[in-house]
Amino acid sequence: MKVLVVGSGGREHALAWKIAQSPLVEKVFCAPGNPGTLGLGENVPVADSDLKALADFAAGAEIGLTLVGPELPLTLGIVDEFEKRGLRIFGPTKKAAELEGSKIFAKQFMERHRIPTARFKVAESAPQALRILKSGEFFFPLVVKADGLAAGKGAIVCPGYRKAEEAVDLIMTKRQFGDAGKRIVIEEFLNGKEVSFIVISDGAKIQPLVTTMDHKAVYDGDRGPNTGGMGAISPSPFITPQLFSEVVSTIVFPTINRMREEGRKYTGVLYVGLMLTEEGPKVLEYNCRFGDPETQVQMLRLESDLVDVLLNALEGNVLKTEMRWKEKASACVVLASGGYPLAYEKGKPITGLKEVSAIPGIVVFHAGTKYENGEYFTNGGRVLNVCASAKTLGEALENIYSAISAISFDGMHFRRDIGTMK
Ligand code: AMP
Ligand code: GLY
Repeated sequence: MKVLVVGSGGREHALAWKIAQSPLVEKVFCAPGNPGTLGLGENVPVADSDLKALADFAAGAEIGLTLVGPELPLTLGIVDEFEKRGLRIFGPTKKAAELEGSKIFAKQFMERHRIPTARFKVAESAPQALRILKSGEFFFPLVVKADGLAAGKGAIVCPGYRKAEEAVDLIMTKRQFGDAGKRIVIEEFLNGKEVSFIVISDGAKIQPLVTTMDHKAVYDGDRGPNTGGMGAISPSPFITPQLFSEVVSTIVFPTINRMREEGRKYTGVLYVGLMLTEEGPKVLEYNCRFGDPETQVQMLRLESDLVDVLLNALEGNVLKTEMRWKEKASACVVLASGGYPLAYEKGKPITGLKEVSAIPGIVVFHAGTKYENGEYFTNGGRVLNVCASAKTLGEALENIYSAISAISFDGMHFRRDIGTMK
């Protein structure tokens, strides 16, 4: 079978890498892909948001299965478009992907069904938002969130009124995130440890993926602004078997079941971002896709055939294949461009990549790179993901950091404390 992976980051490289190992797969295509995925199959020069062109390609190339990495095509309705044309695709429909596409939908859904989450109010205009902020209904700190997709930057933690007023101005008046900021959510700040929980759902049953912990802040010690993720490890040191069952029974199943009952059957990857509060786990956000860089460490540990699991999920029988995982630890360290997550320059030559990719046990996934005339250049904020799995986490990290010392590009920065408990 031919498989198409939609997207161009480290997550998509890791998915394509795993899919290419499947005995069911004849060839992997990536749209648009990156220089890393090029080595696994073929890149297709179509943007991940061009749903019609993607469906045309899948139909023409007789793609047997399409897997979507990023949230944007899912929230735009790529699954609906493919299904309309009889093309097999794994992911939630537009209506199901609203769990990520609209924070207001997600919050009201949780409220309707008593799924634990932070107390909140919706504001439809800036004056209304300011009235809520002044009313004393919420103590500071509080969180102001754009309703729609904002590339992970739409949630602003506000220690006091002034910052909250600025956040409202930025999101609703200046429209920093465009129409995503037409409406906002104001919610209470939750204290605790943040963990993520990722499952594959067939609409009724689930297969949990192996646990992970990612590091969102840009600098060591969790300082600096949040990024998409500067690294990840698996397993997560915080998810005990007891917490695992609690999250499955109080959050994951209620979400999947109530979505189905509301006519929004959720088939796809469900990523639940949680805060472990004193009152128990509460949902911070839902994502309708795999994590990045969580997927990189999960794929390094997955023994079973991912394609087989996805095909079974599409048949409504996700439990048919047992998901087996290596009893090992894995880790991923992200090498980022100077300035990321704020403004950064592109086009810096990368050295040492070929040497490092040849080190046994090291897997380098490409994220923001470009290949030209036999050389690699930076082409995004998160540039490379250096990953390894080993008997212990310490060993995996030691291998990774030693490999990183051979890679360089102008402005390169990375966290030196991936895997350290917060
Ligand atoms: P979101 O886009 O809703 O996931 O928010 C992005 C990040 O902001 C989360 O990963 C948390 O680190 C933080 N955050 C969001 N909501 C809250 C909250 N209610 N309390 C504390 N931190 C939050
Ligand atoms: N690493 C966070 C995310 O994928 O949303």
